[in-house]
Amino acid sequence: MCGIVGAVARENIVPALVEGLRRLEYRGYDSCGVAVNSARGLERMRSIERVSHLDSRLRRARLESASGIAHTRWATHGAPAIRNAHPMLSGDALAVVHNGIIENYEALRDELSNAGYAFVSQTDTEVIAHLIHSLYDGDLFAAVREAVQRLRGAYAIAVVHEDTPHIIVGAREGSPLLIGAAEDGNFIASDALALTGRADRFLFLDDGDVCELTRDTIRVVTRNGEPVEREPQRISVENSAVELGSYRHYMQKEIFEQPEVVAATLRGVEALTPELFGDAAPATFDGIDSVQILACGTSYYAGLVAKYWLETIAKIKTDVEIASEYRYREPVTSRRALVVTISQSGETADTLAALKYAQSLGQTRTLTVCNVPSSAMVQLCGTRYLTRAGQEVGVASTKAFTAQLVALFMLAVTLGRERGHVTALRESQYLQQLHGLPQMLTSMLELEPQIVAWATRLAEKENALFLGRGLQYPVALEGALKLKEISYIHAEAYPAGELKHGPLALVTEAMPVIAIVPDDAMQEKMKSNIQEVRARGGQVYVLADKDAQIASEEGIHVIRMPAHYGPLSPVLYTVPLQLLAYHTACTRGADVDKPRNLAKSVTVE
Ligand code: F6R
Repeated sequence: MCGIVGAVARENIVPALVEGLRRLEYRGYDSCGVAVNSARGLERMRSIERVSHLDSRLRRARLESASGIAHTRWATHGAPAIRNAHPMLSGDALAVVHNGIIENYEALRDELSNAGYAFVSQTDTEVIAHLIHSLYDGDLFAAVREAVQRLRGAYAIAVVHEDTPHIIVGAREGSPLLIGAAEDGNFIASDALALTGRADRFLFLDDGDVCELTRDTIRVVTRNGEPVEREPQRISVENSAVELGSYRHYMQKEIFEQPEVVAATLRGVEALTPELFGDAAPATFDGIDSVQILACGTSYYAGLVAKYWLETIAKIKTDVEIASEYRYREPVTSRRALVVTISQSGETADTLAALKYAQSLGQTRTLTVCNVPSSAMVQLCGTRYLTRAGQEVGVASTKAFTAQLVALFMLAVTLGRERGHVTALRESQYLQQLHGLPQMLTSMLELEPQIVAWATRLAEKENALFLGRGLQYPVALEGALKLKEISYIHAEAYPAGELKHGPLALVTEAMPVIAIVPDDAMQEKMKSNIQEVRARGGQVYVLADKDAQIASEEGIHVIRMPAHYGPLSPVLYTVPLQLLAYHTACTRGADVDKPRNLAKSVTVE
């Protein structure tokens, strides 16, 4: 999704802006641009190609400046085109970059058009530029403060004006924005990663805050104009995540990091007690009568797996709902429910809004399972479990999903213990299984050559079906999502029992069917479903446990997993499906880390 970086320093900041944009590339974008106050005045350069293209043009133009703002845009209002790329100018003197969506932009646009402003883009951002320009009388900070009071929706903005080349003004409401401080200047960005190696202290802005940076000073005021006295905090921004090493893509690197991610998550875990989820967790978990999980996309599928665990292990009623649905309906809620949000980024607009909605309905027992400690969701939830997946760069979530599953399994066993459904012996068996996961995941990665062979065949198809039952149904959903989002093959997942209620009509020789068949109580049912597919000529690709009673034959291709892994098997079955999506997409020549139309952190609804 869109990214902002701005800098004001003693030296030329253009390289810092470009480097910041490069670090934001992982979020997904379709255009990029910079605006700087140079010796010649306000200068802007934009591109609808990669940041590297913008960089070469900036170098050729020898653009230098001590202050400026830059942006990667993921189109919302208006097609990906130069005229819609940020920064947006007003009066050739003021430049704005913006993340988010302004909901009342049409009314403002009419008003500003009537006042004589000409619009050259289709964006809501141009409205912000003209609005600030119309309110500017020499004080940029005051003009931005007045302008944001008129904006409805979500935004993070950074603004510069040619009259005050040593100042950057920023503001946020519902979209992340932070300030980075360093000895030789100050920075603003939508993601701390953009400032890796540049800033060492960070000040996270709250909704309603407006800030002003010079190279030596930082001023922040709240919505009500009160000065904010918070000191910038020292946090280390991970660098290793942005180094690709020997891998071809971030997605591949992140798939292969999973054993280490799970090991890091489990390091020091010797008992499954509420304290694992923070100091407030014992009180939060005490006396809950149900669990309400809210999430989007892959995180939602982690929630679906968790429902099976929570109901089977902790015997607690669990509902899982897509956050964008929950936030707009009138759910019947319980004040004793534990509301669990699951999010890699902690900034997903729909999940955040659903959480706020649940809180407004009196649901105060909240837990977030999140991968970004500084995110809004972590700040908003009473209790939080921070997954230790590290920065996830590939747009398609992989290692964060695995880490979520491990955290949610620990939650299920913890609640099971608290509610008297898990004995001490059972807990220690679960712990043993958990600690065995890193090694099991390593064996899963060794299946890669076999998966590559499947991927070569799948890459020629345009559709695929994924089947699973019980715990494996959400895994099938996740497998289908991974395949469609990065290879653009249309893929759907069904609980295998549903096949004959409709989707079987799609099965022909041209329809590959990927089936997950662990050696569990559902094995015989799955085998019958596979025969139903074979009888219609469908090619079946089966991921089966080592001892599962199914063998390769005409039209049935079996890859065997190292061992049956009981309730934790979804963590393992996920890996070959990630690899299948990855290699299929590579074979089709797709841009794996930046799938078309998608963004890493979905901060708009
Ligand atoms: C798919 C994917 C998305 C995210 C979804 C929620 O690979 O990554 O479906 O899972 O956008 O994002 P988070 O987890 O950041 O809330």
